[in-house]
Amino acid sequence: MKVCIIGASGKLGRYMVQHALDRGHEVVGVCREKSVAKLDAFKDRITIIPGATNDREVIKRAVEGCDGVLTVLVPWGLQQYSSGTAQAVLDYARPGARLVFSCGWHITRDGQDVYSPAFKAVVVVFGWVARTLRFAELDDQVEACRRIFESGTRWTVVRGSDLEEGESRGLPVWSRHVGDPVLKSNITRRTDFALFMVAALENDALIREAPAIVDCQSPSALAHAAA
Ligand SMILES: NC(=O)c1ccc[n+]([C@@H]2O[C@H](COP(=O)([O-])OP(=O)(O)OC[C@H]3O[C@@H](n4cnc5c(N)ncnc54)[C@H](OP(=O)(O)O)[C@@H]3O)[C@@H](O)[C@H]2O)c1
Repeated sequence: MKVCIIGASGKLGRYMVQHALDRGHEVVGVCREKSVAKLDAFKDRITIIPGATNDREVIKRAVEGCDGVLTVLVPWGLQQYSSGTAQAVLDYARPGARLVFSCGWHITRDGQDVYSPAFKAVVVVFGWVARTLRFAELDDQVEACRRIFESGTRWTVVRGSDLEEGESRGLPVWSRHVGDPVLKSNITRRTDFALFMVAALENDALIREAPAIVDCQSPSALAHAAA
């Protein structure tokens, strides 16, 4: 496949580049101009298109001819960065392309997710502090996902748990709703989050799903498998 990775220079993005190359995909990466050097390890093996990920012309050029698009949705700044990025991908990816987006557990597709009081408090406090200090807008990530869910595209929105660094522990397991017992451990290695995103490109069972993921070797996943 020819795969575009939007937000390729971030931690999640670089893991996705590596997994996509490991699978033999041709990779086009988009990242901010000032972050191009973060992709030096891959510069002979991928095409890099510098630019803001919510710049529609940048996205139009990057996704041209791609079979799949992996997008890191980030809420940084007060500039509709997430929704601008998502909208450009929805508008310019070729019809039929597989579109896979990343976000956190706080995004809900159908309102059936059950969050702990502590989780809800963190989202409210972080959202308020981020907006007040003008460094991020969580609401815009919600808006981005609303547009994706309503689109007629072949989308998947992967909802990551808390993340940690470390060696891969395998493809995460997933469930439709936060609050499902299998997800209770609320932890995933970042490299495995990226692995799930890249694998989703070739998993049609995930089309129009918003899987919430967890480490396949976490206590809650192992307990679920045993049961
Ligand atoms: N962190 C967590 O614990 C967590 C938990 C659950 C889900 N997630 C989801 O995982 C994804 C990536 O998370 P991550 O923690 O692994 O981060 P990451 O991969 O480091 O990604 C950060 C991205 O944000 C970009 N960025 C940073 N500052 C920016 C700014 N001021 N303006 C525009 N772009 C900026 C970075 O681009 P540059 O390389 O150009 O700086 C990079 O592409 C997101 O979709 C997030 O919602 C994260």
